[in-house]
Amino acid sequence: MHILVTGGAGYIGSHTCVALLEAGHEVTVLDNLCNSSAVALERVQEIAGKPLAFIHGDIRNPDDLDRALQGGADAVIHFAALKAVGESCEKPLAYFDNNIGGTIALLQAMERAGVRRLVFSSSATVYGEPDTVPVTEDAPLRATNPYGRTKLVMEQLIGDCCQAVPEMGAVLLRYFNPVGAHPSGRIGEDPAGIPNNLMPYIAQVAVGRRERLQVFGGDWPTPDGTGVRDYLHVMDLAEAHVRALEFGRDQAGARAINVGTGRGYSVLELVRAFEQASGKVVPYDVVGRRVGDVAELWAEPALAEALLGWRAQRGLATMCADAWRWQAGNPQGYDGP
Ligand code: NAD
Ligand code: UFG
Repeated sequence: MHILVTGGAGYIGSHTCVALLEAGHEVTVLDNLCNSSAVALERVQEIAGKPLAFIHGDIRNPDDLDRALQGGADAVIHFAALKAVGESCEKPLAYFDNNIGGTIALLQAMERAGVRRLVFSSSATVYGEPDTVPVTEDAPLRATNPYGRTKLVMEQLIGDCCQAVPEMGAVLLRYFNPVGAHPSGRIGEDPAGIPNNLMPYIAQVAVGRRERLQVFGGDWPTPDGTGVRDYLHVMDLAEAHVRALEFGRDQAGARAINVGTGRGYSVLELVRAFEQASGKVVPYDVVGRRVGDVAELWAEPALAEALLGWRAQRGLATMCADAWRWQAGNPQGYDGP
């Protein structure tokens, strides 16, 4: 298939491009590089040993979208979005414009081009603070911040379009906590500024870019008092997209599917696993809870196995080893020497 990948230069997009090229698909990336580097795409092509087409443009610009869909795409994978929870509270309109406005523009362009297949990057954030874990896809949906609200609204917009156009099909992949990197160490997560998320923060402490990790809360109702999440290797997630495309070929309507391992690890378990994988000490202080955090969140991944034939293959040690290979080889990310 020929696939348009919006946001393909980003963290999850770049790893997915490798998986798509390796599965024999043709890839066009549309990305405005607002949170990524074109170097990632050079390295994707180097790893896969195959070329892709890159359009430096914005999903809110209809001309850029028409150009990207010109060659005749069979499906779109839609990663392009702003994703920082804290920033979304300070700049909600920027998030509504980019994420919701961008998704409307994309759906309009798909309609113009007659493209009916979509795989959408949703998030476990749509479950807010869940009543029980593991979380199943029919759990109540609620947004707890503007970023989460954009994901919820985008899911609903896509659902409405699928209702209106019977030939349209969409797979809404609700990711839990993607971490790690391609095993080559050539592509990985390269957050701008101070990392918001745990794994890149730990990796930057281990490599000497930051002094100490702050552990947000040691008094959660969990076995060791620190927060528990469903960490998922980014290459497992990339492969879930390839499966979702295949599943989406004959699927009508919008289908939400959790993408997680079904197993939670605490912050301190992740720290220890990273120390083992890297041979580095990760000093930390336990500080107060972060506003908006939940004690524990992990997926019920049975639907992904039933519908996509997908199940996570890589464990925590591999996630840490691959994150460390990327960080050690690229201490300053893509812009480094
Ligand atoms: P990322 O920031 O690395 O990638 C997003 C890419 O989209 C970037 O390359 C950015 O330049 C591009 N982009 C943003 N706005 C654009 C626009 N208007 N036009 C064109 N390109 C634009 O983020 P990521 O971690 O790879 O996340 C990808 C998707 O997965 C996002 O939709 C995110 O909300 C979702 N998601 C991420 C996580 C996570 O923990 N990383 C968890 C759940 C869901
Ligand atoms: N944590 C720390 N110190 C840090 C960073 C995080 O202790 O410096 C803790 C958090 O309190 C939490 C765990 O590590 O217990 C994981 O935190 P992350 O920020 O890595 O991940 P979250 O689960 O909070 O959120 C991520 C994305 C959200 C997305 C959610 C569910 O950032 O956008 O996963 O997919 F909605």
